[in-house]
Amino acid sequence: MSVEDVTPVTDAPVGRGAGDSTREPLIVLSGVQKHFGDLHVLRDIELTVHKGEVVVVLGPSGSGKSTLCRAINRLEPIDEGEITLDGVSLPLEGKALARLRADVGMVFQSFNLFAHKTILENITLGPIKVKKTKPAEAKERAMALLERVGVANQANKLPAQLSGGQQQRVAIARALAMQPKAILFDEPTSALDPEMVNEVLDVMISLAKEGMTMIVVTHEMGFARKAADRVIFMSDGQIVEEAGPEEFFTNPRSDRAKDFLGKILTH
Ligand SMILES: Nc1ncnc2c1ncn2[C@@H]1O[C@H](COP(=O)(O)OP(=O)(O)O)[C@@H](O)[C@H]1O
Ligand SMILES: [Mg+2]
Repeated sequence: MSVEDVTPVTDAPVGRGAGDSTREPLIVLSGVQKHFGDLHVLRDIELTVHKGEVVVVLGPSGSGKSTLCRAINRLEPIDEGEITLDGVSLPLEGKALARLRADVGMVFQSFNLFAHKTILENITLGPIKVKKTKPAEAKERAMALLERVGVANQANKLPAQLSGGQQQRVAIARALAMQPKAILFDEPTSALDPEMVNEVLDVMISLAKEGMTMIVVTHEMGFARKAADRVIFMSDGQIVEEAGPEEFFTNPRSDRAKDFLGKILTH
């Protein structure tokens, strides 16, 4: 992380404007509590993400960012509270849950592609199995998505034959293939060699511009400044601060946020 990453940008965020109350809520968490044994990892989380909004989640390691993403996708059950997607309470299991998972894409730090399937098969599998898309149509759409993320020429290779940056772009294409209402990104560039970070962030920025609803856990402050409508700062399982990116970076209010920014900006 360098100081250049956070030099002020004059451009407006590429999303569609923070805190616009006229926009429809898409993901709503209310009173969400989650424990791992004695550890209270999500504390009374209240969060509304609107359609087309890009929310960047920041916070120190162990603050609950991944658990928050996993809870939204029901990969992790919650103890109390409610999470709704497009007005519908998240189902606990069964077919309704499979549909919900299709509605919320997820991109992880480790690319999580199927190692023994080709890039093309990685993209078409979900649409064919879950959405019952005809194989020919799934393939055509997959190729268009691979084109869009710049790896169409790798379609018949196996994941291990691609660079990390290419694999992560495939993971984004795979999420898009399910035509999700939102995509959650959990540190999508943290496992990448530095020279590959921007190729992935560029794809994410173009998605943001197109109006995709995104929750992005990242330490890429340049991305947060450029693409976020809103920054959420988490510490010890709580949302401690919530602000537009310029406001958050130039004027963090809490000591914990100041401390966090101080640490990441000096490295
Ligand atoms: N499956 C689990 N079992 C027990 N503790 C967990 C589990 N997953 C995460 N934790 C703990 O919950 C806290 C929050 O973790 P996490 O959501 O991964 O934080 P972050 O993504 O912000 O680094 C950490 O203290 C972590 O050790
Ligand atoms: Mg994490």
